[in-house]
Amino acid sequence: MKPAIKPKNPNFSSGPCAKHPGFSLDELKDTPFGRSHRSSLGKAKLQESIEKTKKILCLPQDYLVGIVPASDTGAFEMAMWSLLGPRGVDVLVWESFSKGWATDIEKQLKLPNTRVFTADYGKLPDLSQVDFSHDVVFVWNGTTSGVKVPNGDWIPDDREGLTLCDATSAVFAMDVPYHKLDVITYSWQKVMGGEAAHGMLILSPRAVERLENYSPPWPLPKIFRMTKGGKLIEGIFKGSTINTPSMLANEDYLAALKWGESIGGLPALINRSEANLAVIEDFVSKHNWIDFLAESKEIRSNTSVCLIVDLPEDKLKTLVKMLADEKVAYDCASYRDAPPGLRFWCGATAEASDLEAVMQWLEWGYNEVK
Ligand SMILES: Cc1ncc(COP(=O)(O)O)c(C=O)c1O
Repeated sequence: MKPAIKPKNPNFSSGPCAKHPGFSLDELKDTPFGRSHRSSLGKAKLQESIEKTKKILCLPQDYLVGIVPASDTGAFEMAMWSLLGPRGVDVLVWESFSKGWATDIEKQLKLPNTRVFTADYGKLPDLSQVDFSHDVVFVWNGTTSGVKVPNGDWIPDDREGLTLCDATSAVFAMDVPYHKLDVITYSWQKVMGGEAAHGMLILSPRAVERLENYSPPWPLPKIFRMTKGGKLIEGIFKGSTINTPSMLANEDYLAALKWGESIGGLPALINRSEANLAVIEDFVSKHNWIDFLAESKEIRSNTSVCLIVDLPEDKLKTLVKMLADEKVAYDCASYRDAPPGLRFWCGATAEASDLEAVMQWLEWGYNEVK
């Protein structure tokens, strides 16, 4: 028997992620269409995004937030290209995106004193091996393996190197200790269910100090340049973007932030995500044919929840297709580089009631294809 209830929103993709509950295009009606992003109106809108971000995330007062081109990738690569080089680099790799950053550092930037610590999908590398006199590059949450770092206790407050953290699938959903991080990046399309296009780049005072005192030996395209004459271009962190942003995407991000504030801000966003994961945890605990890819609860992601299913790959594909055909779950296959399985986005914009419904459909689908 097919379950009686379908999720209200069947979008479980891990990016772009589901829009916030109740989203309507009407929320975008104040977009300054056709106006310059450098007009006082345009700049004020961009600055509002920056200020609301700082407030909701409770960032340290002296951290800077900039809207930069090319989504999280743009933000993270601009940070690596601008900051890395003067120290050795330790890179932590445990899934596809962190592997990509290691490739950038070893094969593109060709930094000689680089150590890469790799773990298989489902595991974390040994964090105690990290040398904090080096710069450290890592993701907070591995979106493609469903493995997150458990906390920031392994990062000393008095580190010599910088910590560069791609936190795109963690920000707004996890308790990230920002003072332990010197560079934090994310994109609007993840936990807040915004649109892709722009990246958010957050810098600590130590990261700014590095920017102002170090010139990388390689050429930097204009799109990556954050300093002029050895000084930070402060305007970037006040809404004067490097190039033209989408004011529509910005308005959409603002709408998502306003929704986040309306439900109670960061604690409420984190709670929603954890409650979503709890629905899947409950289901997994009652079925022996499904398990988390993450090897322990401590490192289990509460946003990109990756599951392994006791089915051969072709049947798994059939299951994913059935769930989409029934319009109950779209885009819930594991990432293309990850071990075959399922991945359900459990970030703040997903609804626990929808996950409950989809678990019933998953049980139905599994029994059908088995
Ligand atoms: C950990 C991580 N880093 C980087 C990216 C790339 O993000 P974007 O496509 O927004 O640049 C993703 C996308 O899923 C991701 O999960």
